[in-house]
Amino acid sequence: MCGIVGYIGKKQAGPILLDGLSRLEYRGYDSAGIAVRGKRGVEVVKSKGRLALLVEKTDGGKSLDGTVGIGHTRWATHGVPNETNAHPHCSADKNVTVVHNGILENYRELRQKLAANGYKFYSETDTEVIVNLIDYYYKKYKAGPVDAIARFMQRARGAYAIAVMFRKYAGAIYVARKDSPMIVGVAEGEAYVASDVPAILKHTRTVYYIDNLEMACLTRKGVSFYNADREPIDKEAVTVEMDASAADKEEWQHFMIKEIHEQPRAVRNTFDRYVQDGKVDFSEAELTEEDLRCKHIVITACGSAYHVGIVLQYVIERIARVPVRVELASEFRYRDFLFEPDTLVVAISQSGETADTLAAVREAKAHGVKTLAVVNVQGSSIAREADRTVFTVAGPEIAVATTKAYSAQLVVGYLLALELARVHGAVDGTEYTRLLSEVASVPDKIAAILSDISSYQRFAAEHVNMHDVFMIGRGIDYAACMEGSLKLKEVSYVHTEAYAAGELKHGTISLIEKGTVVIGILTQSGVYEKTASNLEEVKSRGASVVGITFEGHALGSEIASACWTVPVIDERFAASLLVVPLQLVSYYMSVQLGLDVDKPRNLAKSVTVE
Ligand code: G6P
Repeated sequence: MCGIVGYIGKKQAGPILLDGLSRLEYRGYDSAGIAVRGKRGVEVVKSKGRLALLVEKTDGGKSLDGTVGIGHTRWATHGVPNETNAHPHCSADKNVTVVHNGILENYRELRQKLAANGYKFYSETDTEVIVNLIDYYYKKYKAGPVDAIARFMQRARGAYAIAVMFRKYAGAIYVARKDSPMIVGVAEGEAYVASDVPAILKHTRTVYYIDNLEMACLTRKGVSFYNADREPIDKEAVTVEMDASAADKEEWQHFMIKEIHEQPRAVRNTFDRYVQDGKVDFSEAELTEEDLRCKHIVITACGSAYHVGIVLQYVIERIARVPVRVELASEFRYRDFLFEPDTLVVAISQSGETADTLAAVREAKAHGVKTLAVVNVQGSSIAREADRTVFTVAGPEIAVATTKAYSAQLVVGYLLALELARVHGAVDGTEYTRLLSEVASVPDKIAAILSDISSYQRFAAEHVNMHDVFMIGRGIDYAACMEGSLKLKEVSYVHTEAYAAGELKHGTISLIEKGTVVIGILTQSGVYEKTASNLEEVKSRGASVVGITFEGHALGSEIASACWTVPVIDERFAASLLVVPLQLVSYYMSVQLGLDVDKPRNLAKSVTVE
């Protein structure tokens, strides 16, 4: 969370910083600020609210003079979102200016230490402690910026990516990171720093990934890297291949709807990357048959990626007969997990930077357990730290509410299930080929759902005042409900709950009253009638029922006021199709309500704090 950018070169820094921040707004958007170093020293401009306000205030960055600067878009952790707490932060004498992404956990203790040394604080942020601590070490030891930052790193607990300007070093920006993402880009006579590649893609494709506890010094002549012992280190530049236009909204009204429509491509590209000649091939990820011979799988993730895990638990157990547990990464990391021998931990993450998922990977590795990451962002922390990484090929996802990454993750999971089934002898060749061709049909079937969106638009228009929705189903249908419910909450702020259909009557059914909307999903043949009975139960208590099922299996009008159908597919892969109507309803509901679809309140896409 929080996005940081920095630029040093020959061009005016302000517009470049603001453009970079506009591509990082998905990381946080409650306030923003830039600091540019001009002839009169460092000038800082901040504003509460969306970046557009800062753009207006600085005439698109042109009102600030100077060719060196740093910028920040914030998702508040310490201190309410206001101008005072917004970054950049400066030491009282403007000796040090900092932007920061992450959380300094021991900031209270460090703040006391600094206060005892005469430092005064104007904000409620942990970042101001970082600024002053670096200033303190810089002045105390008089050994220059790298030394001061290294001393800060020795004392800091928590996660951070920081970009720092020192008054005396007019031609340099210093950066450091631990557990928060940061990349450095270079071009002729200039250097960039950013939380993520799309922020600098229009300027350069030559990128360095800074590792944990490393520092860098950016100048117009190039970039030098240092380890935590302040020793210079060599790093290899990587050429980024990402398509810059993928991060543009093009003709679409919002990124979310663009990305919903990109799902067939995201799924197909992911499938094509790992399927060759009618067989799944994970050799690129160095995933071996020995890895797949594991006896237990633990899937760990957060948010929608966790919901992918819930689907895959059903899919892998049913197809490969390998036991699967799914754990929220935030719980897994602290629960002193009892690992069975021969366990493979699968960490799923779009960004590859989610703090809890990264910590879960480290926890597993610390126990000597093999880890497989399913990640969308090349070079991300989880991708680099896991033993094996399979990449989803969804392209950059900008809307805070994930759609195409979720769909691409499911497909990787299906292919993994097939490979596990093959290695464990749970399917024969014919069944393997049949299942693979079913997975191959997902993109066209998603496209078919997307070709007629009128029912979802109509539903949103007719239910604009609804305030409680229950989504119920069993097995994979229930797993799809979990994701659908999260989507609706995230972008429309409508209260929804996903419930296992059989569990509703153990308490929650008391909330059903006349007009409560209940969306029931029924694709799993073994439990279709059971869920249908549960829908009858809520209907007889006044609920307004909507069904989602396969074509040819629609619920009658005596139960459901509407029934949406998706193309028939092997029911174990149904979640890939079921989620699409729920994404569309969530999107159109948000539009109807006039909300900021791509940047819902209080959220951030990349959650790099616990
Ligand atoms: C945030 C996003 C969710 C996402 C979750 C996990 O909460 O808003 O859409 O599912 O983080 O993110 P990851 O990058 O690890 O998939």
